[in-house]
Amino acid sequence: EKGGYDHFMMKEIYEQPSAIMDTYRGRMLPNEGIIRMAGVDDNIERLANAKRIIVVACGTSWHAGLVSEYIFEDLARIPVEVEYASEFRYRNPVIYENDVVIAISQSGETADTMAAIKLAKEKGAFVFGVCNVVGSSISRETHAGAYTHAGPEIGVASTKAFTTQITVLTLIALKLAKYKGTISDSEFRFHLQELERIPAKISQVLEKNEQVKEIAFTYKDAPNCLYLGRGYNFPVALEGALKLKEISYIHAEGYPAAEMKHGPIALIDEQMPVVVIATNKGHYDKVVSNIQEIKSRSGKIIGIVTEGDEAVKELADYVIEVPETIESLTPLLTTIPLQLLSYHIAVMLGKNVDQPRNLAKSVTVE
Ligand code: M6R
Repeated sequence: EKGGYDHFMMKEIYEQPSAIMDTYRGRMLPNEGIIRMAGVDDNIERLANAKRIIVVACGTSWHAGLVSEYIFEDLARIPVEVEYASEFRYRNPVIYENDVVIAISQSGETADTMAAIKLAKEKGAFVFGVCNVVGSSISRETHAGAYTHAGPEIGVASTKAFTTQITVLTLIALKLAKYKGTISDSEFRFHLQELERIPAKISQVLEKNEQVKEIAFTYKDAPNCLYLGRGYNFPVALEGALKLKEISYIHAEGYPAAEMKHGPIALIDEQMPVVVIATNKGHYDKVVSNIQEIKSRSGKIIGIVTEGDEAVKELADYVIEVPETIESLTPLLTTIPLQLLSYHIAVMLGKNVDQPRNLAKSVTVE
């Protein structure tokens, strides 16, 4: 049942190339320059004319929502707010009838996300669901939606659900961008072609598994770990930290790299591993200066870089290379080594990877 892997989590990490293909199969036709998604096509006016998108979700799904904020704003020019479902529902939020609420949930059963959806519906918003489990409560409660088609995710730590959520949200943003004319036809096609290349590129990153394992061995006894990223990769930093916390019980924090100097830099000493996502697009030079700041305080640096990188390699203790892609798709690649890192550390520490203490796969209590 684990397909030859020791844990579901590892199986699910390795399933990502095919899971992402399943997400876009039948929906995107790169050569024709078409994306078909019934839930979006049937409501295109409502979605494209949204004055604002409010994303509600929890945990890893909330991180996918944060990535989508960059994608929707960048491509479709629609302002986005990303909310923890639990905060949104309890604070008498301002919701207008021309708002679109996107609820993201792997299980489709998360109680706080469900309650946020009910509240948004009461206030007249249009609610669109992005779920993995077909027929789940959230998929039934929303006005329309798109499934991620990732297949069952058994490991409590979410992996393929995250990358397929980003894939679906990218497709939706591209579709709205095309409809609104905020992206040119050639850019639209280029995005589709690049998305089609992602599964093979993830497979290339998975080939770095042994290298990641070595890094895991070096840092497995660290009591703390910091994750930094900027732009599209800031949410990836949060996700990397969450993965480490939940399965290895090592305290970890994710931060936007530039925020480090506003506080967390005080934590840095020779005991502190810092994972920095420093791909060559999107403020690369600024991230390199952040890395210099860590280095000068003796922090240990693990860089996630683009193939052929030189500057970070000189400064970092370890680097993991990922193939080149367009900036908006980098999270689909940079997430992979962080999943592997937390997996190996948890295994080396003898933790229960698939069923970490105190956690359930879907949180159906409020
Ligand atoms: O099923 P959902 O996507 O609604 O679940 C949301 C969170 O409970 C979930 O992502 C949780 O944070 C995972 N354990 C993270 O790996």
